[in-house]
Amino acid sequence: MSDSEETPRLRVTELKKSFGNKMILHNVSFQLSKGSSLVIIGGSGSGKSVLIKCISGLYTLDQGQIEVNGKVLNSPRNPIDAMQQRGFGFMFQNAALFDSMNILENVAFGAKHALKMNHKAARDLALEKLSLVGISRRMGNLYPSDVSTGIRKVIALARTLAIDPQIILFDEPTTGLDPLMSKKIDELILQCIRSESLTAVTITHDMSSAMRLGDKIAMLYNGTLIWSGKPDKLFKTDSELVKQFANGYLDGPFSFTNSL
Ligand SMILES: Nc1ncnc2c1ncn2[C@@H]1O[C@H](COP(=O)(O)OP(=O)(O)O)[C@@H](O)[C@H]1O
Ligand SMILES: [Mg+2]
Repeated sequence: MSDSEETPRLRVTELKKSFGNKMILHNVSFQLSKGSSLVIIGGSGSGKSVLIKCISGLYTLDQGQIEVNGKVLNSPRNPIDAMQQRGFGFMFQNAALFDSMNILENVAFGAKHALKMNHKAARDLALEKLSLVGISRRMGNLYPSDVSTGIRKVIALARTLAIDPQIILFDEPTTGLDPLMSKKIDELILQCIRSESLTAVTITHDMSSAMRLGDKIAMLYNGTLIWSGKPDKLFKTDSELVKQFANGYLDGPFSFTNSL
């Protein structure tokens, strides 16, 4: 999906993943250049979360390979190693903050444990990333349960940025938020992608978010990437499946078997 001749920042080649005898991902391949933003859309159960867990190293691959800057990644020993060695940041579907830590400690956690920074350096980095996403120093003393779902997502974004990733993976960053807060989070994500020249893969089933965030959009259907194109092509495609999903039509060829 990169038009440039240079080595892609991220290349995924013929990735396959099953659980038991259920094939979840079939030969998924794509590549992204530095600073590009791919949005993957698809129905519930289509394999979106499994795909980015495979890319980030949280799940091992059955077949295929992942390359970052031309280097093939080996299976890591544990998720923290995966994040650290691969240069990946991962923002989980439900923000996944630690309830027992205040906001500042949450954001400093990755810097301390993945980057092995000392307490003061991790804290300073956390404050810098919180400020980047518009969270005040004073708010850093609050706990996740003290703030709204939207703010928790903003904090999760700061925490992801605090391990200085080259590639950032977002799993449904705006699900459960009202349209205005979604727009705000999308703007923050875009601002961070641009200011830090990050390569981003975002998973969403929110079409407004997909149009805002992606310079490319791809659709995953039953574990296969069935379509990809620029956002302005999404609603003009000849693919009946993509057209149905993007427009939210109930009638059409889309099978809901995995979604129910
Ligand atoms: N750890 C797991 N073990 C077994 N099956 C799983 C596991 N994780 C996901 N699956 C299955 O893989 C399919 C795709 O899941 P997922 O990637 O979470 O879908 P979504 O596109 O909604 O993110 C689902 O059928 C789900 O039940
Ligand atoms: Mg999911």
